[in-house]
Amino acid sequence: MSKSEGWGSRVGLILAMAGNAVGLGNFLRFPVQAINNGGGAFIIPYIVCFLLMGIPLLWIEWSTGRFGGKNGNHSTPFIMGSLGKSSLWKYIGVFGIFTNIGVAAYYCYIESWTMAYVYHSVAGTFDGLSQSQVAAFFGSYIDVFHSTTGIPFEAVLFFLVCLGLNTFILSRGLDGVEKVAKIGMPLLILFGVVLAIRGLTLGTSGASAEHPTASAIDGLNFLWTPQFDSLTNPKVWLAAAGQIFFTLSVGMGSIQCYASYLKQRDDVALNAASAGFMNEFVEVVLGSSIVIPIAAGYLGLDWVKENAGFGMAFQTMPYLFEKWGPVLSMVAGVMWFGLLFFAGITSSLAMGTPWMGFMHDEFGWKRQKGAWSFGLIILILGLPTVFFYHQGVFEEYDYWAGTVSLVVFALIETILFAWVFGINNGWKEITRGADMKVPEFYKYIIKYVTPVLLTFVFLGSLITPKGNNWKVEISNLFSGNGWTLDNGSIIKQITNAGIYEQIAAATDPAVVLQLQDKLFYVNGARILLLLTFAGICFLVYLAHNKRKLKGGTA
Ligand code: PHE
Repeated sequence: MSKSEGWGSRVGLILAMAGNAVGLGNFLRFPVQAINNGGGAFIIPYIVCFLLMGIPLLWIEWSTGRFGGKNGNHSTPFIMGSLGKSSLWKYIGVFGIFTNIGVAAYYCYIESWTMAYVYHSVAGTFDGLSQSQVAAFFGSYIDVFHSTTGIPFEAVLFFLVCLGLNTFILSRGLDGVEKVAKIGMPLLILFGVVLAIRGLTLGTSGASAEHPTASAIDGLNFLWTPQFDSLTNPKVWLAAAGQIFFTLSVGMGSIQCYASYLKQRDDVALNAASAGFMNEFVEVVLGSSIVIPIAAGYLGLDWVKENAGFGMAFQTMPYLFEKWGPVLSMVAGVMWFGLLFFAGITSSLAMGTPWMGFMHDEFGWKRQKGAWSFGLIILILGLPTVFFYHQGVFEEYDYWAGTVSLVVFALIETILFAWVFGINNGWKEITRGADMKVPEFYKYIIKYVTPVLLTFVFLGSLITPKGNNWKVEISNLFSGNGWTLDNGSIIKQITNAGIYEQIAAATDPAVVLQLQDKLFYVNGARILLLLTFAGICFLVYLAHNKRKLKGGTA
């Protein structure tokens, strides 16, 4: 990005930041998390996590980003490096480039599905298909080598088109990003509101002989009737925290990058809060008023609970739209997948900017070179998710880059901000030029509450007890029976314990082979991620030396 790079206007900045946050997570991840964690039981921890971790992290990231921009730093290695003396911080900052690359590698793939589905909605591919046929279409689409969707290697093709488009827009710099946000965000909200109105007014009119008790209201009640009994269940809290990180794009490094293009006298306090609340509006109001009520309205709440998964958006929605007649179903399909596309692209563009900013700051790479090199990296890392989706590459990226890294990075950056840089300095950064009065108690929240909660979240993920049953394991621990880890805990994930257990339990040799295959690809995915991380570390090392030679403040 060029030196003079900056945001065109405040509206453009807020829309770009909101576009960064509002993404596939709001429409695909949120409803699934909410259903799987008890609906109304999820909402309270979710809101608490937003207020005690989400908002503080937004302020931390916006203000450190602007602070970094002052010295011409636009990515986390040297932004973090300017907050603390130790050169360790620079390497921690690697997370802020790595995560974006790791997430973009699978995110662009889902984004490319939304493009394909806009096309198929227009082409009328789903007309007259049964529910299982629409679901099977999706299965065939992602089964790249045996796909029968009509276009050979369709999933690969759309992935390339989608990635190419992202790269092209990125090569236009912040200008391009801002323009896409200015068009995409209003359209997204328009489409979302139309579909949400449908979801909220469907009532029981979708009930049929096959699903006589189907009711959209059941879906809404399930989400909005608060339940207090699971407030003590750490599993729900961990899921809520994970969703907050992902949806706000905090703990990623992309917000720091966007904020580093602010002017020093620009406000961060109100801007950060506005973008954050806008994301929550889209997530909680629009994100929960489309898939869940519409699916519950036609298929019943029980069906939704049993089938909650992010495939619902692709496998089920096009079939349900068919019930609205050929024209409206086309319109609904274009709106739904178009909305997902705009949500996706304004986020995936954000993922490209830290890399571009870093290469420009340290190695003088121009936008073009920055954008195309990013495209190439995502191509190399992304193709395995396309070709080996079923072998678990996609999930592996999502787990390490899209889940674990965020928590680790968020925890460390909070400590750096509040304890190393110091909360008093930090508070000055947050409130400098502020267009709102930041409540004073947030100073204490950022200093004590946020890091403690983040530590809990991290430890909870590290040593998740078997079956997520905390009560049982805690009592086991006190009665001297040790602590049995869940296969989903970070420790067990590292050792692939889950897959090995499945192999040991499998009797069918074909299944064993399949699982061994999976092991191979999962390990391969990890190696790719590790190489990416190590590669960025090396670049930071080179940059650090280069700065030292120049006699600058490396
Ligand atoms: N917040 C985005 C979403 O909800 C995801 C994202 C991740 C955006 C990383 C930018 C960087 O989908």
